[in-house]
Amino acid sequence: MPFSADPILPPPPPEAAAHSRQLAEHIAEAILSSGDWIPFSKYMELALYAPGLGYYSAGARKFGPEGDFITSPEISPMFAHCLAMNARQVLEKVGGDVLELGPGSGMLAADLFAELKTQKVKFDRYLLLEVSPDLRERQRALLAARFPDDIGRFTWLDTLPEKIRGFVVANEVLDVVPFNLVFRHDGEYFERGVILTEAGFAWEDMPMAEGELKRRARHVIPPGDYDYLTEVGLQAEALVRTVSGALEAGLALFIDYGFPQREYYHPQRSMGTLRCHYRHRFHGDPFFLPGLQDITAHVDFSAMGAAAESAGAEVLGFTTQAYFLISSGLAVMVSGGDPSMTLSRLKATSAVHRLISPSEMGELFKFLAVARDLDGPLLGMQSARHLML
Ligand SMILES: C[S@@+](CC[C@H](N)C(=O)[O-])C[C@H]1O[C@@H](n2cnc3c(N)ncnc32)[C@H](O)[C@@H]1O
Repeated sequence: MPFSADPILPPPPPEAAAHSRQLAEHIAEAILSSGDWIPFSKYMELALYAPGLGYYSAGARKFGPEGDFITSPEISPMFAHCLAMNARQVLEKVGGDVLELGPGSGMLAADLFAELKTQKVKFDRYLLLEVSPDLRERQRALLAARFPDDIGRFTWLDTLPEKIRGFVVANEVLDVVPFNLVFRHDGEYFERGVILTEAGFAWEDMPMAEGELKRRARHVIPPGDYDYLTEVGLQAEALVRTVSGALEAGLALFIDYGFPQREYYHPQRSMGTLRCHYRHRFHGDPFFLPGLQDITAHVDFSAMGAAAESAGAEVLGFTTQAYFLISSGLAVMVSGGDPSMTLSRLKATSAVHRLISPSEMGELFKFLAVARDLDGPLLGMQSARHLML
């Protein structure tokens, strides 16, 4: 099956190209057996999570310099060290477990566990919820190598527990949960989906039936008569609602790139935020090499906050990554380094720059803190609702 290819993006090795073709065939079959059209959310689900074939389910290297993108925990262990300051406060108040959603390479789990251990913080288990069997194995290998005596404290889960007590963290998970594409044209609302043509996958808009998606499209798309394409993350909201509902006592931190609704659905953002990551380049074509690239969108944090509140939890705070990390002691960690280690200090400083600079991850990345039965101010979240949701 042919698929679109951008000549600027580096071509994959033959084996990877064959893998992508196999996944493309699988998606094509799904389209044909669904009346020749699937919503974009279905395309994304298959492209990322089709068993054995999807980008996250299969074995390609995704994280770090040899992969497609780099996340905060991969940039520096200082990210995990700041989270540990916050986790420590929560675990000392409510006890219980640490639960990480979508642990990726396992780097955050390793550095957070190490720091909590160094600080002698008491907690029961480090739980990991990972949908990708391949990533589970990578996480297990990394954690077993780093903590051979403690590997029994790590437990992989297939589903969310019914009750959660303790500290929950999800870094860059919500942006890869399949979302729907909605489009306003000539005053009518459409859902954008995927069809098969002789040239490969192509877009096709379907008039939207009345229902939750149409209600949401009407609500978020700004008034006007111009074309407007955007995303609605109903599945990500469902995930936040489920975690928040299960949270018996403690804190859940959702960290991702995104905006509150008034910024997200701005009249000028009329092409949405869909973004694909391939070999450290990003572009807007999700049909390019399915299975070999990540597909994401920014997170609508107002919707995530509302989902948490609808499950009876409290939004304790919403702030930028820079604010959270600095007020969790990042600056002290850097300036407290050994002055004789000039090179590593320098590296640390450039990592810090990436994590907190407004032109890098500092402003675009947000921390949404959802709590239940948790008293007192928390590091990184001193001024609750620091930003308006
Ligand atoms: C972009 S990666 C981020 C990895 C890691 N948290 C980090 O910061 O490096 C997204 C991760 O979320 C996982 N994931 C996607 N959907 C999920 C879900 N519904 N529940 C749990 N994990 C999920 C993916 O398999 C992957 O491990």
